[in-house]
Amino acid sequence: MHLVLATEAQKAERDRVTHAAWGSPLTVEQFHQRELRLRARPWCAEGMNTWLLCEDDGRVLVSCETFHNDSWLRGPDGQLAHGDSFSIASVFTEEHLRGHGHATRMMDLVAAELERASPRGHAAVLFSDVGAPLYRRSGYEEVPAWDWNLPAREEPSPRRVDALLGDGDVAAALERMRRPEAPFYLWPSPAQVDWHLERERIYAELLSRPQPEACGAVVGDSTALWAMMARYGELVVLMLDARSGEDAATLLEMASAVAHRAKLAKVVLWEEPGTAELLARVPGATRVAREGSLPMVRPLRPGLPPAAAIPFPRALWV
Ligand SMILES: CC(C)(COP(=O)(O)OP(=O)(O)OC[C@H]1O[C@@H](n2cnc3c(N)ncnc32)[C@H](O)[C@@H]1OP(=O)(O)O)[C@@H](O)C(=O)NCCC(=O)NCCS
Repeated sequence: MHLVLATEAQKAERDRVTHAAWGSPLTVEQFHQRELRLRARPWCAEGMNTWLLCEDDGRVLVSCETFHNDSWLRGPDGQLAHGDSFSIASVFTEEHLRGHGHATRMMDLVAAELERASPRGHAAVLFSDVGAPLYRRSGYEEVPAWDWNLPAREEPSPRRVDALLGDGDVAAALERMRRPEAPFYLWPSPAQVDWHLERERIYAELLSRPQPEACGAVVGDSTALWAMMARYGELVVLMLDARSGEDAATLLEMASAVAHRAKLAKVVLWEEPGTAELLARVPGATRVAREGSLPMVRPLRPGLPPAAAIPFPRALWV
């Protein structure tokens, strides 16, 4: 058994196999086209790999993808050190091969490979849709996961944003945002946000549905970025830096109006340490335990804080 990087032909083959888990409502061919488009975006072209655990005869047992993230770790001297983290997605074993430890074996080997190949490596992260136990076996620790939901609203909000943001404003919007004060954090690049917006475009086209008129908004010094999850009828807030409860309400009410006009049912925001207090004051916002997408972290070096102390904005999801 050995771990290899997939060739383009093997990636195309895995697209057809993994459609069973993630393809609906797209056809197999549409899903493959989706994957080709996403892999061509700069974020993937620069830092995405598809891994295969193969039998000695070359038969693929299980696959996954890794994406590169920039991360920052506070050292004993209080200084932040810039390093590399990796988000893992699309762990897939075909049904007839399940239950033999293949996924666990691959997760162990991928982490060992990331450790070996990344002198500045900080952490491997993933967003589990199958709970924590499977990935705990490979050294991952989960982060408590809560969402805030806000229904899409038709009636205008009395609050006004200063400006809506378009695709060309993403880099400046990220630049405006305050970085977390956490001892360790991953920070999405404009290219990672673009990957979310490309997903939005793909589903708008393939499902023939309207795209939101903006991907974010600013008010005062506060900023939000969001994207449509067409399959779930949701506008997800990718990043929120709200300097006050009032600003949080203004930005989220704008998001909820944009969601309504794009025929989406609700706005979903991932809670981060410290944001609950602000969000509790947003009229109509409710806190719910997240189903799926459970952030989990495996250190690639000593010195990382416990997982619960690490902030995970939705922009980091893969
Ligand atoms: C999850 C998956 C990758 C596991 O692959 P595998 O090669 O069978 O994994 P392993 O043999 O190493 O581990 C199997 C364990 O995963 C658990 N598991 C599998 N699917 C699960 C699910 N949906 N919910 C909770 N646990 C699950 C099994 O119960 C088993 O636990 P056990 O050994 O205590 O009985 C495979 O079931 C799969 O491809 N599922 C569809 C795609 C998917 O959901 N991927 C995960 C995305 S985060």
